[in-house]
Amino acid sequence: MKILSIVLRGFRNHDATTVEFGPKINALLGDNGEGKTNLLEAIAYLSLTKSFYGASDRVVARIGGTGFEVEGRMRTDAGTEVGARAAYDAATGVKAFTVNGSRPETMASVIGRFPVVILSPENAGVTTGAPAERRRFMDLLLCQVSPVYLEDLQEYRRALRQRNRVLLDMRSGRGGALEPWTLSLASRGAEVALRRRAFVREFIPYVQDAYRELVGGREVPGLRYDGTAGTEEAGDAGGICAVLLRSMEERAAEERARGASLVGPHRDDLALSVNGRGLLDFGSQGQHKTMLLALKLAEFRYIREQRAETPLLLLDDLFGELDDGRSRRILAALASLGQAVVTTTDEGHFHGAVPWDGVNRRFHIERGGCTAA
Ligand SMILES: Nc1ncnc2c1ncn2[C@@H]1O[C@H](COP(=O)(O)OP(=O)(O)OP(=O)(O)O)[C@@H](O)[C@H]1O
Ligand SMILES: [Mg+2]
Repeated sequence: MKILSIVLRGFRNHDATTVEFGPKINALLGDNGEGKTNLLEAIAYLSLTKSFYGASDRVVARIGGTGFEVEGRMRTDAGTEVGARAAYDAATGVKAFTVNGSRPETMASVIGRFPVVILSPENAGVTTGAPAERRRFMDLLLCQVSPVYLEDLQEYRRALRQRNRVLLDMRSGRGGALEPWTLSLASRGAEVALRRRAFVREFIPYVQDAYRELVGGREVPGLRYDGTAGTEEAGDAGGICAVLLRSMEERAAEERARGASLVGPHRDDLALSVNGRGLLDFGSQGQHKTMLLALKLAEFRYIREQRAETPLLLLDDLFGELDDGRSRRILAALASLGQAVVTTTDEGHFHGAVPWDGVNRRFHIERGGCTAA
């Protein structure tokens, strides 16, 4: 998939911005706080129907404005042109999404149709941060390749929220029906855990290949899905569901005392290692960076295969801590992958590495405006 153009109205600090993209590298150049990341966020809206930062639509709408509008034209690998539009009305709080002018049946049918792979400074947490960051990585990836997963995850989260509310009520002496939420937590949770575990198994060779390309064969990365005890051996979704139910039963008193659900895939992790040593405890800075790049490169290829559609690469502040030689190699690698939109404050990273020939384009971003350079 390639994005041909985008129009933003009232989106963050962009009042009215239009960009016509080139088919390879698109550089967004500008000083801090001018609106580069905001433009990436808008592109991702067309794919994910929401902010990749997890910001609410209300926050994304331009301060003092009436709402926002993002309109994009894409071309699929097969050559079909598609128009997508997200519009949010601040007065009513309603967001409307259309594809080629008509409303899709579900948001789930849109997510992943225009796949994106995002690499931003915030992603550092995937290798260095709490388990929640790695679950988010898996979820964002899986939602783009599997509408069924997205639905299970949404229902799972709903059950979790409701169940936690009932547990809190019970703790403060009020009654409530826990059982229905316990059952849906376990059944949807089993689907989520099963899919994630299968995904990790499929994903390992992708990460190993990508890691090897980046540093050679000296270091071998490892990935392991770390789930509720007993679920790995349980086999199918029914088996996992039974294990989750049993575990909730065992911890019933603790859950009531804490007022929270303590069992399920919202507690799971993706354990990362290099040469058998846990990255969190033993990884060097270089190993963390390499792992993150390998995960992202693997994500790109995995999504491309699963969806039979090339994802668009959104690279925020890519060169942050890279030297010129490394930046150049990465740029060369990117150009061979597909279309990329890259933000940087320092155009120097591109000098001599990218010809600005129309296939590759650069844009200046200033105070929420964009001009082709
Ligand atoms: N809802 C909003 N309405 C108006 N302005 C906003 C809104 N949300 C964010 N901004 C403004 O957008 C600017 C930040 O834009 P952005 O994050 O895209 O900058 P950037 O060019 O990526 O900068 P950096 O190089 O520092 O990452 C800030 O000035 C911020 O105040
Ligand atoms: Mg930024």
